[in-house]
Amino acid sequence: MLPDSRGVSRRAFLKSAVAIGGASALAACMDREDADVPTGVDEPASLPEHQHAWNDALSRDDAGNVVPPRHHALVHLEFDGEPTDEARGTVESALRTLERAYEWSNNGLLATLGYSPAYFERFDSALPESVHLPEPQPLSDLEDPALDTPDAILHLASDHASGVLEAEEAMRGNRDTANGVDVDAALTDVFSVADRRSGFVGDGLPAEHQDTGGVPDSEPVPEDAPFYMGFESGFEKSQATEDRVTIQSGPFAGGTTQHVSHIDLNLTQWYEQDDRESRVAQMFCPAHADSGAVEGTGENLGDSPQLDDCGDPVETGSERGVVGHSQKFQRVREDGRPVILRRDFDSTDGGHAGVHFLALQREIADFERTRDAMNATDVSGQTPVGRTQNNGIRQYLSVTHRGNYLLPPRSNRALPTPEGSDA
Ligand code: HEM
Repeated sequence: MLPDSRGVSRRAFLKSAVAIGGASALAACMDREDADVPTGVDEPASLPEHQHAWNDALSRDDAGNVVPPRHHALVHLEFDGEPTDEARGTVESALRTLERAYEWSNNGLLATLGYSPAYFERFDSALPESVHLPEPQPLSDLEDPALDTPDAILHLASDHASGVLEAEEAMRGNRDTANGVDVDAALTDVFSVADRRSGFVGDGLPAEHQDTGGVPDSEPVPEDAPFYMGFESGFEKSQATEDRVTIQSGPFAGGTTQHVSHIDLNLTQWYEQDDRESRVAQMFCPAHADSGAVEGTGENLGDSPQLDDCGDPVETGSERGVVGHSQKFQRVREDGRPVILRRDFDSTDGGHAGVHFLALQREIADFERTRDAMNATDVSGQTPVGRTQNNGIRQYLSVTHRGNYLLPPRSNRALPTPEGSDA
């Protein structure tokens, strides 16, 4: 009934159920998926202390790369006043409902709850030095993003669209049960919902969602691509480890920081003005385009983008007038690996092809210097490479939003104070 009333065809409605959200989307999705979703555990002690410890709970592809959950929601939450023990108990009980209802896996549900600098402002004391959590800010002089300042952010992820939608409905107080388990409390018993965002990642999903803004009518997104821009991303060796992004000391030891930006993609230019060779050069590096190193979506690369032959970005920029996106980050690698753990996913939010670029790192400064490497102002200052033109993929990306959050360890995740929740 709802699909027609919203003027969306049933097929399109089903495809975009997570983007639409709500009870009707959930009902339609449950009908379609008929998924047997495994339930979780009664004892949270059996779950990892890091909320962000997802890798061991996810599956891996043949090359050993982590395969991210296919469906995602990000729910922005506001909290009024100072937290009480009662409110903390409610938040904990709501999150335990999810842990009881769903296995901690891609087949069940993975979730994190994070808090922004705006949340911590209500306390007299400041966050300890062991936590670097500045307000979000523009990270290049060419962008003017909206700065997200909800108090908290809930990230829900599952291979089942119905799992994400049902968990969200339960946390909004709209369901008595989740995956057959009683809902003891909802996050909306203490928070109000300010916004929701959604998305998807994985082979075939971007091609299924290409009937949206920013994508040409020719439907160019490769059928098997996991991301809109047509290539694999998140190779094991081009990701930070979960340990590298974990806060090591202080009351939030075991936690991490999360940066979430939203980026609009210009795929018309990407697919219609550029040929495959120049796409490979801009995404990886010109040497990869010359050698034909990347076949199809790049699955042949194994567990690494194999950037050793790419060379120095300034030299490449001078000689070729183009520098690769991945190539530029070699300069901010530590011990041979990046310092950020990317968990980004694509989206049609706002009726436009985009990316929710979600990254985890020990401190927000790690993200900022990684982003700075992508700006590569030295390359564009000394070579024919433009500030965005031929500067990796910058010319196809427009950042619309940025937000910074702290993901406390599981034991401290319910309305923490700057000293940790027991203070
Ligand atoms: C929004 C569109 C983006 C797309 C489609 C994209 C795609 C890719 C691809 C295909 C790779 C190579 C495969 C891999 O190593 O996993 C890569 C690598 C990487 N990207 Fe992006 N990326 C995007 C934005 C960003 C942003 C905003 C950042 C952060 C500043 C970023 C940071 C990185 C890093 C650190 C690497 C690994 C480089 C290394 O191996 O040292 N990417 N990206």
